[in-house]
Amino acid sequence: MLSSNDQRDLLAWYDEHQRDLPWRHSSDPWAILLSEILLQQTQVSRGLVYWQRMVEAFPTIATMATAPVETVLKAWEGAGYYSRARRLHALSQLVMLPKAEGGFDGRLPSTYGTLLSLPGIGPYTAAAVASIAFGQPVACVDGNIRRVMARHTAQQDPPTKEVQTWADSALSHERPGDWNQALMELGATVCTPRRVNCESCPLQSTCQGTHEPERFPTPRKSRVKAVCLDALVQIAADGHPVLHQRPLSGMFAGLWGPMYHEHDVQRPAPDWLSCGTVEHLLSHRRMTVHVFLKTEEAPPHGTPRSKVPISSLDEKVLAMASKHLPTEHEG
Ligand code: ADE
Repeated sequence: MLSSNDQRDLLAWYDEHQRDLPWRHSSDPWAILLSEILLQQTQVSRGLVYWQRMVEAFPTIATMATAPVETVLKAWEGAGYYSRARRLHALSQLVMLPKAEGGFDGRLPSTYGTLLSLPGIGPYTAAAVASIAFGQPVACVDGNIRRVMARHTAQQDPPTKEVQTWADSALSHERPGDWNQALMELGATVCTPRRVNCESCPLQSTCQGTHEPERFPTPRKSRVKAVCLDALVQIAADGHPVLHQRPLSGMFAGLWGPMYHEHDVQRPAPDWLSCGTVEHLLSHRRMTVHVFLKTEEAPPHGTPRSKVPISSLDEKVLAMASKHLPTEHEG
């Protein structure tokens, strides 16, 4: 349990030490929603760049709703987890619908329950947006808050329900948005997974984990699966790569890229030039991609890369293949 003194001390600490993040200067629910969706799986330092890009490209819900999904994916390029961008686009179109058609007349709903019903919005994002953008008294739970709770109560593996109960009882009803952000900020900057800085913590006097903070919580087993693929890059006569749109479900859904195959040790075929290997780490996959350049049968036209969304992995694959292109002067 956090006491009312803890609450006061954490909010005072947040007022003084919070990072200067641009979405914290905004009261626009759309800008705040964009930040929370981006920060779900992206570090703040990288999230900053993408948030800026997204608010510039889509300053309002209406601007996103009227854009083709491809344009949204292009703006999201490099941020990863592209299903977030697809769902955000679906959300914008739903919100723009008139109430009579099941929409929200262009205004983001303000309550936790209604936000939760929107595409791509889970319990964390619904609570974050309801509290930060609309001042609703709902408590967030994310990985940072779980770590703060586990340490404060000296628990190695607190069940999600208990973390939520703790967060609900700790919530400041006067400043719910600041409170949620203060707990996350504490987890991100002081009560960090390693090299914990208990001396700077406003909750140190009541925390039960200060003697050995890194024991709490026990790290979760990572379920990273190794995936080995062959990428076959072909460059068309016009100099552009031959790109295909990936299926609309699964990894990199709807993005464009070269052909991939299961890795086959029998390769290469005679006209496949081996270019090297790209390693790429996603949250649940460690990808090893063997890159080949198909040197025969170039079609006349490829796809200009600036026209379609491409994953960071495919950017690396194309860059590696392009180093092996014959130069103009050869032969
Ligand atoms: N992580 C996700 N959203 C955050 C926020 N608003 N403040 C601090 N950390 C966050």
